[in-house]
Amino acid sequence: MHTVTCIAPVNIALIKYWGKRNEELILPINDSISMTLNANEMCAKTTISSSETFKANRMWLNGEEVTFEENARLMRCLDGVRRLAVANGALKVPLNWKVHIASRNNFPTAAGLASSAAGYACLVYTLARLYGIPINEELTAVARQGSGSACRSLYGGFVRWHSGVLADGSDSVAKQVASPDHWPNMHILILVVNDARKKTPSTKGMQRAVTTSALIQHRAKVVVPRRTEELTEAIQLRDFNTFAEITMKDSNQFHAIALDTYPPCVYMNDVSHSIVNFVHAYNEAVGSLQAAYTFDAGPNACLYVLEENVSQLLSAVQLAFPNDLVPSVEYLRGIQVPNFDSQNEKILSKLSDADFLEKRSKNVLKYIIHTKIGNGPCQLSDDNSLLVDGLPVSSL
Ligand code: DP6
Repeated sequence: MHTVTCIAPVNIALIKYWGKRNEELILPINDSISMTLNANEMCAKTTISSSETFKANRMWLNGEEVTFEENARLMRCLDGVRRLAVANGALKVPLNWKVHIASRNNFPTAAGLASSAAGYACLVYTLARLYGIPINEELTAVARQGSGSACRSLYGGFVRWHSGVLADGSDSVAKQVASPDHWPNMHILILVVNDARKKTPSTKGMQRAVTTSALIQHRAKVVVPRRTEELTEAIQLRDFNTFAEITMKDSNQFHAIALDTYPPCVYMNDVSHSIVNFVHAYNEAVGSLQAAYTFDAGPNACLYVLEENVSQLLSAVQLAFPNDLVPSVEYLRGIQVPNFDSQNEKILSKLSDADFLEKRSKNVLKYIIHTKIGNGPCQLSDDNSLLVDGLPVSSL
């Protein structure tokens, strides 16, 4: 029996992927750019065993068995990696042996936080390690067929998924734009919003958008090509101001497309909209763009902010969205920031003109995850320590 365990990170898009030109191969109508988050706070962890005694391919997700062979996306990932193994002449594990896969997320799946991206990236990466094939662009094209956004989680730092033009999707691959070391003080606060509403899943929402939105083609053909170039340059120059403006505009446009869908997809709620107002008021108060928001297909906000401004931003968040759980680690999860709420007075005077402060209500945020830019997936040894190219980090 052969067994491999790996972890893979979450990524959050700055320029959103929304809409496919081919549903089966998962080919997008536009390029997208994301930032990979540190796996310490959020990651998927997958163990795959392969044995000649296994009777069937089986999979457990967060401890519950899920159907495997009927799941076209899972099978496409397994077949895709096996095809690459044959092409690479890699015969580390016989390809006719069945696999058992156990995958877990170290963050609540229900929070709607890009769990499919980390999950499918981890599945494909762990299979690649099992069969002994390289991690390259071809592999991102396999991960893409599990869930589009998963292809971006195979690399750390900033990653661009190129939509490609070929019908077989072989040029629809992810490439790294910049490594995490390029902008190491890039942090993120995920404001998890209390919300019970059922949302239209991304796959369905984007399908409906492509067939009914009159705006989506303009976005894909005109707006995104310009924005991807501008954002790539802003990342290369570590120009936070431009980075923040493009990120916020793209989030807003994605939700405008969702509303232009018929019937509309409403992902943001009232709290999400007050977070948008808050970020603009905060940036105005501090006199520059210090924070940028982005929202995926749900109400939770991801705020990008440089490390040196995290404490001040957190104080302002606590002022605008007071929470009885402060200062517990249950509320502020991940990277800890001591005494962040003690700066309230300073921020209060700066933010005092913002009208939403008058209407603020308590405990509208469930909790906050504080994390930062991170690396791509990696393999773990039997004792859970990191391996690089199959060797323990300590031995390198
Ligand atoms: C709003 O990758 O989950 O997060 O390819 O159908 O599985 P499928 O969709 P998925 O969509 C992600 C949409 C998004 C934007 C993004 O991550 O780019």
